[in-house]
Amino acid sequence: MHLVIDMTNIKIAPSILAADFTRLGEEIGRALDGGADYIHVDVMDGLFVPNISIGVPVVQSIRRAFPQAFLDVHLMIQEPVRYVEAFSRAGASLLTFHVESDSPQGIAAALQAARERGVKTGLAVKPATAVSELDPWLEGLDLALVMTVEPGFGGQRFMADQMKKVSALRRRLDSMGLACELEVDGGIDPDTAPAALAAGARVLVAGSAIFGRGDYAGLMEKLRGR
Ligand code: DX5
Ligand code: ZN
Repeated sequence: MHLVIDMTNIKIAPSILAADFTRLGEEIGRALDGGADYIHVDVMDGLFVPNISIGVPVVQSIRRAFPQAFLDVHLMIQEPVRYVEAFSRAGASLLTFHVESDSPQGIAAALQAARERGVKTGLAVKPATAVSELDPWLEGLDLALVMTVEPGFGGQRFMADQMKKVSALRRRLDSMGLACELEVDGGIDPDTAPAALAAGARVLVAGSAIFGRGDYAGLMEKLRGR
């Protein structure tokens, strides 16, 4: 089968988890100047994942410094509904919750709270979670995220076995005629991005493949397959 991917549809979301936090504004500025579509912000609470990262005040500072940036906030936290208001006020453009992070009632409440505040919504699945767990939620979602590493840390190895889930989700979204974006996160670099794109992902999160390396613009072009 000859696969044609419309490269103008591919979005790159640099994950600031891999940035130098002492120079965060400069790092984000370089990523945006280099063509980043989203800025991916990884929030970890030490409970849902075994690591603690950054939170509301950082999102607020980024929003103040970059009023036009699309802030893709990935909440790896337990019972995320508790923080929807705070992250919305801080300036998140999109809040992604994990389906594993609360009961279905809690997830529904988080989605509703975000929508009421005019914030876009995403749902994520960890590697061990079936992608069909997203099915009841797909209608109305702006983004679905298939993790390609175990959430919690940057710099891990891409899990190619997750591509089955990406393909299945791509088929489902297309058959339902949904515009929901399909994002992958973890271990994405110029070597692994083609598999994710071939499976149907169109938003690529990348941390260690971009930050801390030389030419952000060139690296993002490579991720787009150019
Ligand atoms: C992992 C985070 C990722 C991480 C990706 O829990 O959700 O966004 O920053 O980092 P890399 O691209 O280095 O795998
Ligand atoms: Zn992430």
